Amino acid sequence: MNKPALIALTLPFLFAGCASGPSAEEQAAMVADARKASGALIQKLGGELKTALGEKGPDGAIGVCKERAPQIAADVSKQSGFEVKRVSPKNRNPAGVPDAWEAQAQAGLEKRLAAGEKPETLDTWQVVSTSTGKQFRYAKALPVQPVCLSCHGDSAAIPDGVKARLAAEYPLDKATGYGPGMVRGIVSVKRPL
Ligand code: HEC
Repeated sequence: MNKPALIALTLPFLFAGCASGPSAEEQAAMVADARKASGALIQKLGGELKTALGEKGPDGAIGVCKERAPQIAADVSKQSGFEVKRVSPKNRNPAGVPDAWEAQAQAGLEKRLAAGEKPETLDTWQVVSTSTGKQFRYAKALPVQPVCLSCHGDSAAIPDGVKARLAAEYPLDKATGYGPGMVRGIVSVKRPL
């Protein structure tokens, strides 16, 4: 076989090797980092929400969610090097629409929750191929707790002042009607590889 033919035959295999993606160790490290990033968002936002609920009540705390949730997500993204955000199939923030991977991830997490897994540690991840290359994707479930109900529960659970604020600030709101134990949404974490 002449040399160019040999190179032509070998090259695709070399590239296939490159495209096979991160090793198991690299993936485990990314999962640990993604867990840290989603945990940081949940802790910071949860803390500020608790404080605001105590100081201003649920209708006053809506402003905190509106302004601080996207800011905290942006801060955590910057610090972690991932793109970190919250999404939900029944989104309140118009920017919170899940993409296909996120929707599927949440559906899978809901099934695992229904099968008896603990909500606190419910997460999933995958390395996916896209038209622009490989991506690391991670999702952590955000289960509904009693504290969420005054802003995300059914009509009877939401005080009138909150209803009025939500109608004014989020006219396209879909994020009500939840009960304890449901999955409100996910923290979505991703990074190109
Ligand atoms: C004080 C009212 C309030 C409480 C309590 C509250 N939320 Fe929200 N939630 C909001 C508002 C307002 C938004 C929209 C924030 C924005 O504009 O980004 C929101 C958005 C979200 C989103 C982003 C997806 C979307 O629908 O836009 C998730 C996920 C979420 N909330 C989960 C929860 C969970 C879980 C709890 C309980 C631990 C909770 N929330 C408690 C008011 C509240």
